[in-house]
Amino acid sequence: MDRFPIVFLIATLLTLVSAARDDFLRLPSEASRFFQPPATDQATRWAILIAGSNGYWNYRHQSDVCHAYQLLRKGGLKEENIVVFMYDDIAFNEENPRPGVIINSPHGNDVYEGVPKDYVGDDVNVNNFFAAILGNKSALTGGSGKVVDSGPNDHIFIYYTDHGGPGVLGMPTSPYLYASDLIEVLKKKHASGTYKSLVFYLEACESGSIFEGLLPEGLNIYATTAANAKESSWGTYCPGEYPSPPPEYETCLGDLYSVSWMEDSDMHNLRTETLHQQYELVKQRTINGNGMYGSHVMQFGDIELSMNNLFLYLGSNPANDNFTFVDKNSLVPPSKAVNQRDADLVHFWDKFRKAPVGSSRKIVAEKQLLEAMSHRMHIDDSMKLVGKLLFGIEKGSELLSSIRPAGQPLVDDWDCLKTLVRTFETHCGSLSQYGMKHMRSFANFCNAGIQKEQMAEASAQACVSIPATPWSSLHRGFSA
Ligand SMILES: *[C@@H]1O[C@H](CO)[C@@H](O)[C@H](O)[C@H]1NC(C)=O
Ligand SMILES: *[C@@H]1O[C@H](CO)[C@@H](O)[C@H](O)[C@H]1NC(C)=O
Repeated sequence: MDRFPIVFLIATLLTLVSAARDDFLRLPSEASRFFQPPATDQATRWAILIAGSNGYWNYRHQSDVCHAYQLLRKGGLKEENIVVFMYDDIAFNEENPRPGVIINSPHGNDVYEGVPKDYVGDDVNVNNFFAAILGNKSALTGGSGKVVDSGPNDHIFIYYTDHGGPGVLGMPTSPYLYASDLIEVLKKKHASGTYKSLVFYLEACESGSIFEGLLPEGLNIYATTAANAKESSWGTYCPGEYPSPPPEYETCLGDLYSVSWMEDSDMHNLRTETLHQQYELVKQRTINGNGMYGSHVMQFGDIELSMNNLFLYLGSNPANDNFTFVDKNSLVPPSKAVNQRDADLVHFWDKFRKAPVGSSRKIVAEKQLLEAMSHRMHIDDSMKLVGKLLFGIEKGSELLSSIRPAGQPLVDDWDCLKTLVRTFETHCGSLSQYGMKHMRSFANFCNAGIQKEQMAEASAQACVSIPATPWSSLHRGFSA
C-alpha cells in the first residue's frame, strides 16, 4: 500500500531530473531542495550591435548594423534584448538619395525602419559600449539605458563594424577603443558569471589584432574577425563594382565579411547551421578568390563553441525552416571590393565625378577629396619622419613596419601605446580613421623601449603645426 506513493515519487523525480536538464521547467517548490543548483528559466538571447563610425562616406557600417537588427528580430529576439549603437546620421543625411531609408545591398529593402535608437550621436562611445556589455546601468552616460542584463544561462552576441587598425577599433567619438580594454571587459563579464556563451563577430581592418595573443581560452567566448592582424577589411557594393549600388548611391552599401554572414543567415534555417559552417562559408566569400580584393577571416577563443547552432545566438526566421544549410556559397562574389580605408575617397571621388561642372557640389566634393588626401600625406610623412628621428634612416623604416610572429599580441605595454599615440596627436593632430593604420608603428616603438619624452621631441620636430583640415581636429582620434 505504502509503495505506490514511493514509486510515484521516484517517477516524479525522474521527470524532474530530465526537466532540469532542459533548463526551462521550474521544479515544484517542495522538490527543489533535492537539486543543486535549482533549475532556472529558459536562456535569453542578448545582442549588442555597434557601428563605430559616422559620416555618409561610412554609410555601410550603420547599414550593416541595421541589417543585423532586422535579422535578429526575424530570428525571434526581442527588442528589449538587442542594444543598438549607431550614430544615426545616415538615414536623413542630405547625401542620402532615399531619405529615411537605409539599404545594405543593391536590391535590398529598407533596414532602417524600427531600429531602436538606444545609443546615437555622441552616446556611441567606448564607455557606454563597455557599460552595455557589463550590464552596468550606473556607468552609462545618456542613451536609452538598455544594457545586457543577462543571467548565467544566457547567450550573448556582439557584432561590431567599423574602421580599425592594429590593436584598435574606431568610434565616432573620441577616444577610440583599445583591444586590451575590450579584453579586460570581456574577462570581467565572464567573472561576473552572467552568460553561458558569447559570440563576437568583428568587422574592421586588422581586426585579427584585437584578439590575437589576447583573448584567452576558457571564457566561453568564440570570436571571428573579418581580417587577420595585418590586412585591411573590405567594403562591398561600392560604386564602380559589380554588383554595384543603384546609380544614385555614391557610397559603399556594406562590408564584405558583414554582408557575408548576414546574407547567409538571412537564407538558412539557423536551427541546423552551425557557427563553424557559417565561418567556413563567410571565410570563402570574404577571401574573394584569394585575389587583391579580400581578407582572411579568422577565429579565436573557445573554438569548440563553433559546433553550436547559430540559432543559439541569432534565433532563426521561421520562414526559412525548409532552407537547410548547403555547403556551397550560392551568393555572387563581388567583382572587386574597396579597401575600407579607401572607401571615403571612393565616395568623395564619385560625388566629384558626377556633380555638374561648375556646380557648388563639385567644388565641395573636390575640397573634401583634397582634404582627405592631404591628411593622409601629412600623417604618413609625419610617421616616417618620427621613425627616422627616433631610430635613424634604415632602422627607422624597419621599425615602422615590422610585424611580430603570429600568435603574439601587438604590444606588451598598452599604457605605453596609449601614451605614445596621445603624444603624437598632441603635436601632429588626430590620426583619425585613416591614421589608425599606423598603430603597429607606435606599438613597435613601445616594444623597442621608446619613452614619452623621446616621442614628444620627435613629434614636435616632425610636425611644426597641426594642419587645419577637419581630419586633423583633435576631436577625432585617441586623445581625450
Ligand atoms: C558600475 O559602474 C560604476 C561607475 O563606473 C562603478 O562605480 C561600479 O563599480 C560598477 N559596478 C560594477 C558591478 O562593476
Ligand atoms: C516546409 O515544408 C513543409 C512540408 O512540405 C510545409 O508543410 C511547411 O509549410 C514548409 N514551411 C515553410 C515555412 O515554408
